[in-house]
Amino acid sequence: MNKKENCPKCKGLGWIRTRKGVIKCDCAYLNITNTIFHRMNIPRRYREKDFNNFQIITDEHKKVLKKLNEYIMSDKIFEGNGLFLYGRPGVGKTHLAVAILKELFKKRKVVGLFYDTRTLLFDLKATFDGSSSGREILDEVVKAPILVLDDLGSERLSDWARDILHYIIVKRYNELLPIIITSNIDISGKSDTIFEDTLEERMGSSIASRIFEVCEKVEVKGDDYRKSTLSQLEKETNLKLTKLKELKIEKGRNKKRNQRNTDRG
Ligand SMILES: Nc1ncnc2c1ncn2[C@@H]1O[C@H](COP(=O)(O)OP(=O)(O)OP(=O)(O)O)[C@@H](O)[C@H]1O
Ligand SMILES: [Mg+2]
Repeated sequence: MNKKENCPKCKGLGWIRTRKGVIKCDCAYLNITNTIFHRMNIPRRYREKDFNNFQIITDEHKKVLKKLNEYIMSDKIFEGNGLFLYGRPGVGKTHLAVAILKELFKKRKVVGLFYDTRTLLFDLKATFDGSSSGREILDEVVKAPILVLDDLGSERLSDWARDILHYIIVKRYNELLPIIITSNIDISGKSDTIFEDTLEERMGSSIASRIFEVCEKVEVKGDDYRKSTLSQLEKETNLKLTKLKELKIEKGRNKKRNQRNTDRG
């Protein structure tokens, strides 16, 4: 039985009647369904990622998680304030950005939107012949209650890309809609002025200044997890679990086959 069926409030219906009318029960936000993942555009590789499976390896990780949880529970998201998660490759920035989106859905009932920045620009360019699909993507990105722009600023932008990002960021800034950015821009240990300068150099002053104003900077420190022993262990365990699952399925099939043979004979 899943949690929804156990729910004392809605008795498994998923909806409750209130004085204001029928509303979705809180339990409907406990499990993120495939439809919601699809709406949030979370890539398959990251669907299982959350705060529970983010390993706390250093004290810095603890501080980052505390900050992110405070953000999730605060009203900053409704005031247009976002986050700028930065750090070297493989330290878990995308993992954390996805974890934030999932928590915001479960705890604040907000359905956010995830986009890898380069993919977004590529998709928009591919459809930007005035076709409705290009317009639809842009509309969705501009209006989402919370937007993750993954891997922003990893390269210098063309004028076209800069214009599009400018449009998205200014529209959201004006409407008080927050953005969570992940970036490889290396600004560790440097002053705010240098951070703004680096951002400005890559994105242009108009975008940089707005990001600087509304996004709280959070540095994610650590080693590249992709190369770490922990990650190898995780992969081996997953492989073993998959093999175990396959064995169980095979055993089940054999059992059924034997049963059928016995019934016949
Ligand atoms: N502390 C951690 N605990 C568990 N898994 C982690 C941790 N840090 C990173 N990972 C995992 O390592 C992989 C790489 O992390 P992720 O893609 O989030 O890195 P990134 O900082 O976004 O890198 P890049 O800058 O290259 O995009 C992912 O599978 C992620 O789940
Ligand atoms: Mg990433």
